[in-house]
Amino acid sequence: MSDNDTLWQAVDQAERKTLAAMFDGDPDRLDLLTIEEAGLYFDFSKTHLNAGLIKSFGEIADAQDLAGKRDALFAGAAVNVSEGRAAEHMAQRGQGAPESVALANALHMRMRALVDAIEAGALGEIRHILHLGIGGSALGPEFVIDALGREEPAYDVAVVSNVDGAALEGPFTLFDPEYTLLVIASKSFTTAETMLNAQSAIQWLRNAGIGDPFGQIVAVTADPDRAVDFGIDQTRVLPFPDTVGGRYSLWSSIGFPIALALGWEAFEQLLEGAAAMDRHFRLAEWPQNAPVLAAFVDLYYAQARGSETRAVFPYDERLRLLPPYLQQLEMESNGKASDRSTAPIVWGGVGTDAQHAVFQLLHQGTHLVPVEFIAAAEAHDHRDPAHHEQLLINCFAQAAALLAGRESDDPDRNFPGDRPSTTVLLERLDPFDLGALLAFYEHRTFVSAAILGINPFDQFGVELGKHIARSIANDEEALALDPSTQALIDRAL
Ligand code: F6P
Repeated sequence: MSDNDTLWQAVDQAERKTLAAMFDGDPDRLDLLTIEEAGLYFDFSKTHLNAGLIKSFGEIADAQDLAGKRDALFAGAAVNVSEGRAAEHMAQRGQGAPESVALANALHMRMRALVDAIEAGALGEIRHILHLGIGGSALGPEFVIDALGREEPAYDVAVVSNVDGAALEGPFTLFDPEYTLLVIASKSFTTAETMLNAQSAIQWLRNAGIGDPFGQIVAVTADPDRAVDFGIDQTRVLPFPDTVGGRYSLWSSIGFPIALALGWEAFEQLLEGAAAMDRHFRLAEWPQNAPVLAAFVDLYYAQARGSETRAVFPYDERLRLLPPYLQQLEMESNGKASDRSTAPIVWGGVGTDAQHAVFQLLHQGTHLVPVEFIAAAEAHDHRDPAHHEQLLINCFAQAAALLAGRESDDPDRNFPGDRPSTTVLLERLDPFDLGALLAFYEHRTFVSAAILGINPFDQFGVELGKHIARSIANDEEALALDPSTQALIDRAL
């Protein structure tokens, strides 16, 4: 057990009360535990945080030099120590070392010029965008376009990541090759899935009689030479710095399909919202700092209450891809060993659907799962507000039920209650608020890592499986596989 654990548990044991008792005993609880920032309202009052815990968090933050680590991040120091480089996604939104911000601005201008040229017809008429990438080169653009691009979309957009050929069937059937722009997005420009999907898409263009398929391709990568060697004209290669990690990259040229599909102004608003959250994280005191409090809530439930997971439920159809986006952001960043326990597993789904599928376990199961609700106060444009009202009512009712529970002599109908949740309420789901929300999650991930003593910016854990897959594909003699894997290969390959 680390010093952190001991400290928290001492405070917690001394002061542990139910959520209901905490509300009863403290009329200022809502004031203490709500934060309004960058269009977002954070409500931590339905967690077991109290003044004593917040104070001990401050001590933990100081002991782990959280302020020093945060400042090093923003200054562009080599915080990704295992790879010897900085983590400069904030520079993409104007926050960070001046030379990195200048480079980000220059690369954005280059991207904007290509967006403008395409809109002006430089590549002929474009109706469809087929974006090929995986992990951080797909999840961000796919999520943001799905969230914000529903009203009168300028283009049909499909994001294909899976190497399963079935994933390409939809766009190949629905899109007209003559009017399709291919975007090949890969930081390394070597990822096997993306490269095979790119080859298949190029073949699809060729089969449709397109004479110069490469003339319809834009590449987005941190290794522009590879993209040029692949055959893409350098005027359509959009680089980004290798100090921008894959799962932090939607703000960079990886956001090209966002800028094209939603328009440049929306992309800029996304960056602005994120920058507002960057400033909040940099300047607010710990007790009023939303990413810091959220990270501490996660660590508290993991370390003091033994919660292994956190569940995320956006009550908004447009945010249905938030859980998979967060899974990569948080689990690829912090899914690493630490002697100070570990970051929670993130799972979730969209409300209200999830309510009718997994909420039974949250209300009456034996796991303590801190829940996170995300919703937008304002209704969608052009849609019947009655639906939005129902959505929000359901969201707030679930949080209230988790907290209050209901006693019954019948054990089947007894709800224990006292189950924690956090609510993040957006003013409205627009590019600014969404940018702020995503930057909030990035910084929360960073704070968790800083306290756990983890480098959140590498991902060596994904390498071994890739290496074995390559060896199997190359039929390497020296490959010593376990008997069960060998039997599967013999049956299926
Ligand atoms: O396998 C993990 C990973 O490296 C992610 O970190 C990354 O987002 C994804 O693969 C895609 O990598 P690339 O952008 O280099 O194709």
